[in-house]
Amino acid sequence: MNENYPELQGKTAIVTGASSGIGRATARLLAENGVRVGLVSRSQDLLDELSRTLPGSQAFPADMTKVPQIKRMVSRAKNYFGRIDILVNNAGQGYDAPVEKTETGTFRYIYDLNVIGPLVAMQQVISVMRAQGGGTIINISSGTALMHLPGMSAYSSSKRALAGISLAARQELAADRIVVSVVYPYITLTNFEKNTIRAVPVPEDKQEPTGPYPLDSAEFVAGKIAGGIVSGEAEIFSHDWMKERRPF
Ligand SMILES: NC(=O)c1ccc[n+]([C@@H]2O[C@H](COP(=O)([O-])OP(=O)(O)OC[C@H]3O[C@@H](n4cnc5c(N)ncnc54)[C@H](OP(=O)(O)O)[C@@H]3O)[C@@H](O)[C@H]2O)c1
Repeated sequence: MNENYPELQGKTAIVTGASSGIGRATARLLAENGVRVGLVSRSQDLLDELSRTLPGSQAFPADMTKVPQIKRMVSRAKNYFGRIDILVNNAGQGYDAPVEKTETGTFRYIYDLNVIGPLVAMQQVISVMRAQGGGTIINISSGTALMHLPGMSAYSSSKRALAGISLAARQELAADRIVVSVVYPYITLTNFEKNTIRAVPVPEDKQEPTGPYPLDSAEFVAGKIAGGIVSGEAEIFSHDWMKERRPF
């Protein structure tokens, strides 16, 4: 148990991408701190299994690229919990391709998942949170949004779009006491690399992530997310040195 966030006790949350990695660690950390968590991803079996280990949690399977499924998921979570205090937009996927080889269909899929899905989920919870008198929305961007990385233009630009939407929404919703924050994780040991779509095939033994600094655990990032929910900071960086990498 990791009960470091007493402010979270009794709240309700939706965590997307809860079947794996950062989302699963976040769902677990929130549940350990007394949050009733709606678990979202496409994998009902994994969500049901996780739900059995997290008291108060419930699976709400949805494909975050399908707008009707996102709307239904938020409505089901609202009906089940009675309120939605926290939305963690975490579901996402990588796409490695040089600009010349970027396929527009895959590009659109990545934007549907990394940008439009979180946007629609935000739109669905805003009215619920406004009626409640407030809430917290945390959008998981990426350190790549702060850099120009060859071979990652589609993914990094999608994460930069999500950060831009988050920080504009933060200002738009401040008067409604809805706090919107963006989290920039550094390279984190999850299934992310394995799940990244690649225009240029990489042999399996070369798919292990590497970086200039030691890689983070999903639990470390979950701690940053929980800390961000409590602090309400606009931008949460996994490491302070990431702030210096901003290209703008
Ligand atoms: N790992 C890193 O180095 C890193 C760094 C910076 C940012 N991030 C971001 O952190 C977030 C979490 O990634 P992770 O590292 O935990 O990766 P992961 O282990 O691959 O987990 C991705 C999660 O997203 C869900 N997902 C994927 N496609 C979906 C869809 N169409 N509909 C609903 N859910 C979907 C997956 O669930 P199902 O397959 O069950 O649907 C899974 O739960 C992502 O937004 C990623 O871009 C990761």
